Amino acid sequence: MTNPVIRPRRLRTSPALRRLASEIRVHPAELVLPMFVREGDEQRPISSMPGVVQHSIDSARRAVVQAAEAGVGGVMLFGVPEVRDAIGTGATDPKGILNLATRALVDEIGDALVVQTDLCLDEFTDHGHCGVLAADGHVDNDATLERYRDMALAQAAAGSALLGLSGMMDGQVAAVRGTLDLNGFEDTAVLAYSAKYASAFYGPFREAVASTLVGDRRTYQLDPANRREGVREAQLDIDEGADIVMVKPSGSYLDVLAEVAAMSNIPVWAYQVSGEYAMIEAAAAQGWIDRRRAVEESVLSIRRAGADAVLTYWAVELATWLKEER
Ligand code: PBG
Repeated sequence: MTNPVIRPRRLRTSPALRRLASEIRVHPAELVLPMFVREGDEQRPISSMPGVVQHSIDSARRAVVQAAEAGVGGVMLFGVPEVRDAIGTGATDPKGILNLATRALVDEIGDALVVQTDLCLDEFTDHGHCGVLAADGHVDNDATLERYRDMALAQAAAGSALLGLSGMMDGQVAAVRGTLDLNGFEDTAVLAYSAKYASAFYGPFREAVASTLVGDRRTYQLDPANRREGVREAQLDIDEGADIVMVKPSGSYLDVLAEVAAMSNIPVWAYQVSGEYAMIEAAAAQGWIDRRRAVEESVLSIRRAGADAVLTYWAVELATWLKEER
């Protein structure tokens, strides 16, 4: 037996060498914090997401300042309204909770980070679907596009800089882009949740937004079995004028993420969703995994697979750790 000539372990011998040889790293500016804002004066805990809350507008103001201080790149806002109806009127009402919260946070934070909004009807409809329903109960794609157009105008008028189209209706990017441009919002950007899978990992989110959904979203979100289809959805959104495309969830879809990142000529983001958060928190609470290492590794893996930025509920805490390390 001869001794090995090639020894990859050499570059792993000291912390300093490992740091220098590291292929990628995570920066606070690439992290986006999703935030829930409810109607009413009190913030409320979300039991399935320890550490995450439904904010009041006031507590959201404080949280966005904290996020900016940590160096986080942006926040993604979700509204939790008191009253819901069949067409999600609250989504297009300038006095609806999401639009009010957007204006409040933009006024609070200015340019210190990017205030973004979820553009989808599910938090505002009484049936909990992402669109409006036809008489036979199916989600009506083209009627929903009309609602999305109005929602886009309301969100842009409220000051959102980046609209997160998460409803998975066909043609939603082109519809929203066209309406924005016709109404003087040429500079409002569109983040397309292009490859959004019908996932069990959205479980805790249902509690977070007090969703009334019965059943699932499989007639509009992607089948978890399909990789090619995810890439195709991203290509369609690029062709329709998206500024950024996204893959969601992250952890179970790193292959799709890598493939979209390889073909895209615009930024590619990923969303580490509520269930991914809850799983690590739950295991860490039991003492079964090292919480900080698991959080860091999970986000690093998403960056390594090709995401330029990551939406994660740990954005502020992770950004704080990253600052300590520098
Ligand atoms: C739809 C939307 C959902 C999430 C983000 N936007 C829910 C769904 O599609 O079922 C899930 C995010 C998460 O689980 O963290 N408005």
